[in-house]
Amino acid sequence: MIALAAATLPAQTLWTPQHFWKQDSAYVGAGACSGCHTEIYQKQTASNHARSLRPLLEVGEFTAHVPFDLFDRGSGARLTLVRGTDQRLDLEWAFGSGAKGITPVGRLQSGMYAESRLSWYAATGGVDFTTGATKFTPQTNAESLGRPLKKDEIVECFGCHTTGTSRDNVEPPRDNMGVRCERCHGPGAEHIRAMQNPGAPDKKIFQPRRLDGFAQAQMCGVCHGMPPEDTNFQAIRFIQEAPNTVRFPSQRLVLSRCFNETEDGLRCTVCHDPHTDVAMNRGAPEKACIACHTAGTRARAKICPVAKENCASCHMPKQQVMAHSLFTDHWIRVVRGVAASHAVQ
Ligand code: HEC
Ligand code: HEC
Ligand code: HEC
Ligand code: HEC
Ligand code: HEC
Ligand code: HEC
Ligand code: HEC
Repeated sequence: MIALAAATLPAQTLWTPQHFWKQDSAYVGAGACSGCHTEIYQKQTASNHARSLRPLLEVGEFTAHVPFDLFDRGSGARLTLVRGTDQRLDLEWAFGSGAKGITPVGRLQSGMYAESRLSWYAATGGVDFTTGATKFTPQTNAESLGRPLKKDEIVECFGCHTTGTSRDNVEPPRDNMGVRCERCHGPGAEHIRAMQNPGAPDKKIFQPRRLDGFAQAQMCGVCHGMPPEDTNFQAIRFIQEAPNTVRFPSQRLVLSRCFNETEDGLRCTVCHDPHTDVAMNRGAPEKACIACHTAGTRARAKICPVAKENCASCHMPKQQVMAHSLFTDHWIRVVRGVAASHAVQ
C-alpha cells in the first residue's frame, strides 16, 4: 500500500528502525513509561500514532455501520458486514486512527490474513471500497471479501502500525498496538532499571533530539517515506515528478530550500510535537516559518512579497493523493498555479 518508496530506493532503507536506537534491551510496553513520564504518556496515548492499530471491536466508527451491505460490481457479489464470527473473513484489526480512514484486516478461513474490501472514511463518514480495491477484479470468493496479504506484506502492515513486533509474532499486546514509545525510543527495560538509580550516567534510551534534520527525516521516514541521499539524483527526480510522493513527507521535505539551506537541516520536530497530532499544534508550523522568514534572523531567509500569514496554505498546499484523503506537500516552495482561494489550510 505504501510500498512505492521501497521499490525505488536502496534496500537498506526498508522499515527496520533498529539502527537508530542501538541499546540492547527488552520491550516493556508503553504502560511502563506512564508513571515517570505521565504527561507525555497521556498525550501520546490519545494521539493518532497510538491509535493507528486497534482491535476492530473498539472502533465505534466502524461498529456503528454494522450491519451493512453493498453490491460490488467488480465481483458481482453482495458484501455484508455482520456482527460475530462467521468464518469467511473474520475482521479483527482496525488499521488507521480514523483521522483519514480505517481499514479492517482479518483472517480468511484458510488462516491467511486479508485486507477488507470495505473501509471507513472520515471524509464521507461512511463505508466505501478500500483504496485500490476496485483496481483488481476478484477471482475467487475469498478475494471478493478482501485482498489476501502475503506473509511479507502482513509483517510490513503490522511493522509500521505497531511497536515491538517480530516476523514470527506480528500481533502485539494491547499496550503496544499502534506507534508507541518504544517504537521511536527503542526497547526500554534497561532504561527503567537505570533510572531507578539516581544520577546514572547512561540513560540507556534513545533521545531523537540528538539527530540532525536528515537523520530525523530518516527516522520518521522509516514509515513516512525514506528520504533520498542528496547524491541520488535519480531518486530525487522521481520524488519531484511523481505526484503520489506528496504522501511521503520525509521524501518531499528534503527537497526544500528551507531544509537544504539551513544548518543541520529542518527537523520534523520544528513543526510537529512527536507525541501529539497536528490538530493539537495548529499554530506551530506558521510560527516556524515566521521565525526564519523575518528580517534579521540567523537563517537569513527572504520575506514573502505576497502575504504575512497562512504561509502553509500557499507554500505547502494540500493535495488529494487518494480518494477521500488530502496530504500536505512538504516540499516547501513557491507552487505555481495555486491560488490562495484554492489552497486548503
Ligand atoms: C523510573 C522512572 C522512569 C521510567 C519508568 C521511564 N523513564 Fe524515561 N526517564 C526517566 C528520567 C528520570 C529521565 C531523565 C530526566 C528527563 O530527561 O526527564 C528519563 C529520560 C528519558 C528520555 C530522554 C533521554 C535523554 O537522553 O534525554 C527518554 C527518551 C525516555 N526517558 C523515554 C522513556 C520510555 C520510552 C520509557 C518507557 C519504556 C521510560 N522513559 C520509562 C525516568 C523514567
Ligand atoms: C512506526 C511507523 C511510524 C514512525 C516511525 C513515525 N510515524 Fe508518524 N505516523 C505513522 C502512522 C501509521 C500514522 C497514521 C496514524 C493514523 O492512523 O491516523 C502517522 C501519522 C503521523 C502524523 C499525523 C498525525 C495526525 O495529526 O493525525 C504526523 C504529524 C506524524 N505521523 C509525524 C511523525 C514524525 C514527526 C515522526 C518521527 C519523529 C513519525 N511520525 C514517525 C507511523 C509512523
Ligand atoms: C512503510 C510503513 C507502512 C506500511 C508497510 C503500512 N502502512 Fe499504513 N500507514 C503508514 C503511515 C505513515 C500512515 C499515515 C500517513 C499516510 O496515510 O500515508 C498510514 C496510514 C494508514 C491508514 C489510515 C488511512 C490513510 O490512508 O491515511 C490505514 C487504513 C492503513 N495505513 C492501513 C495499512 C494496511 C492495511 C497496511 C498493510 C497492507 C499498511 N497500512 C501498511 C505506514 C505504513
Ligand atoms: C513518533 C515517534 C515517537 C513516539 C511514538 C514517542 N516519542 Fe518520545 N520523542 C520523540 C522525539 C522525536 C523526541 C525529541 C523531541 C525533540 O527533539 O524535542 C522525543 C522526546 C522524548 C522525551 C524527552 C523529553 C523531551 O521533551 O524531549 C521523552 C521523556 C519521551 N520522548 C518519552 C516518550 C514516551 C514515554 C512515549 C510513549 C508514551 C514516547 N516518547 C513516544 C519521538 C517519539
Ligand atoms: C529553519 C529555517 C526555516 C524555516 C523553519 C522555514 N524556512 Fe523557508 N527557507 C529557509 C531558507 C534558509 C531558505 C532559502 C533562502 C530564501 O530563499 O529565503 C528558504 C526558502 C523558502 C522559500 C523559497 C523557496 C524557493 O524554492 O525559492 C519559500 C517559499 C519558503 N522558504 C517558505 C517557507 C514556509 C511557508 C515555511 C513554513 C511552512 C518555511 N519556509 C519555513 C529557511 C526556513
Ligand atoms: C496567498 C498565497 C501566499 C501566502 C499566504 C504566502 N505566500 Fe509566500 N509567496 C507566494 C507567492 C505567489 C510567491 C512568489 C512571488 C513572486 O515570485 O513574485 C511567494 C514567495 C515567497 C518567498 C520567496 C521570496 C523571494 O524573494 O524569493 C518566501 C520565502 C515566502 N513566500 C514565504 C512565505 C511565508 C513565510 C509566508 C507566511 C508568513 C508566506 N510566504 C505566505 C504566495 C504566498
Ligand atoms: C515547516 C513545517 C513542517 C515541517 C518541518 C514538517 N511538517 Fe509535517 N506538516 C506541516 C503542516 C503545515 C501540516 C498540515 C497541518 C494541518 O493540517 O493543520 C503537516 C502535516 C503532516 C502530516 C499529516 C498528514 C498530511 O499530509 O497532512 C504528517 C504525517 C507530517 N506532517 C509528517 C511530517 C514529517 C515526517 C516531517 C519530517 C520529515 C514533517 N512533517 C516536517 C508542517 C511541517
